Amino acid sequence: MERFVVQPASPLSGTVAVQGAKNSALKLMAAALLTTGTTRLYRVPDITDVTIMSEVLTAIGATVAREEDGALAITTPETLIPIAPYELVEKMRASVVVFGPLLARHGFARVSLPGGDDFGHRPIDIHLRAFGELGATFITEHGYVEGRCERLVGKELVFDFPSHTATDNVLMAAVLAKGTTVIENAAREPEVQDLAALLTSMGAKISGAGTSRIEIEGVDALMPVSHVTIPDRVEAATYLGAVGIAGGSIVLNGACASDMDMLLEKLVAMGMEIEREHDSITASASSRLRSVDISTLPYPGVATDYKPLLVTMLSVASGVAIASENVFAGRFGYIDELRRMGADITVEGHHAIVRGKLRLSGAQVRARDIRAGAALVLAGLVADGTTTISGVEHIDRGYERFTEKLRGIGVDIVREV
Ligand code: UD1
Repeated sequence: MERFVVQPASPLSGTVAVQGAKNSALKLMAAALLTTGTTRLYRVPDITDVTIMSEVLTAIGATVAREEDGALAITTPETLIPIAPYELVEKMRASVVVFGPLLARHGFARVSLPGGDDFGHRPIDIHLRAFGELGATFITEHGYVEGRCERLVGKELVFDFPSHTATDNVLMAAVLAKGTTVIENAAREPEVQDLAALLTSMGAKISGAGTSRIEIEGVDALMPVSHVTIPDRVEAATYLGAVGIAGGSIVLNGACASDMDMLLEKLVAMGMEIEREHDSITASASSRLRSVDISTLPYPGVATDYKPLLVTMLSVASGVAIASENVFAGRFGYIDELRRMGADITVEGHHAIVRGKLRLSGAQVRARDIRAGAALVLAGLVADGTTTISGVEHIDRGYERFTEKLRGIGVDIVREV
């Protein structure tokens, strides 16, 4: 089992190149199933989740290869094998985003039902209800959902909740439907806009992506294209968290500040200095952070993926803060690990009360999901003694060259086998 070994940090300095957005790249890859031929995606991060999505696409009959210039080339044949098997969906629930493209392209999809995970119960009812309204019928047996349809027919849909992945999935189904689909209460995340941008360049007719009302006029066919993935705002937030905790000044090259407005406002309220450029952010911290309350919400609110990072920052800030989780009720698993490092955090329902301490205490801790793992690495920067983080395979799912990038800004971290 590999582990990260982290030592307390001095103020950080240097530059980090921000990777392409994981939560965009995975959906862009699925969108390649809507065409016949080769789609080339640039700035797709080299992370385990991309490897798993490549395996899903390969199981479906596509070929996936990295080309010399870094492009991820996905070649989709005329005929697909429209099945997403349990072994892969179990490893990565985002695999369910092949459902929409397969229904649209093939009129049939058999996708393993994702189970619960460390965030708690995670249903896909919003996806299935929407596909049903567009004309698909379903049977669920042996742990799989099987959907069938003739050509989907556009309709006005209203989502119960602005689910990010459901918006992506339904968008990819609706682009080839007959007639016009409207998604009301759609997710507004920048990654949804990125997917809509790819689909539009493939020939889809979409308006309103990035707002809560997306209108899609179905077309008969889409063409493969090349596309550059947007930067990863959660990866960028992780390095911002590192400098907030350890002090110093770093530059995030390629970061998109306008996708991170609410977070950057919170970081400024905590005492960090943030300078925004067209495609970079310079962040500095010269004194101990101040506590501020945070409350997660769908975009443009503070993303739930930032929360483990923010709670770690609050655990060493001056004062008391309430961090409320409004997206995933069960997303508090990492708090027990932070407590093992001496953090003073009490959980009441979906609120965490964080009483800032001057320093934490290095310990052996376990990463249970991607962001929780990154948050424990941040905690190690401000903990006395050595912090050893196991479960690094979770961190590898979302972070490209994590230890190298951290070492580049002065963090003492090694990967031990
Ligand atoms: C995506 C991101 C994840 C991020 C989350 C919220 C990817 C691969 N993952 O996850 O990193 O934390 O957005 O920004 O993009 N829900 C239902 N029924 C559904 C779908 C969702 O009840 O059919 C609920 C979920 O249980 C959760 C809430 O809606 O409570 C938000 O989930 P959703 O926006 O769908 O998150 P994901 O798209 O799965």
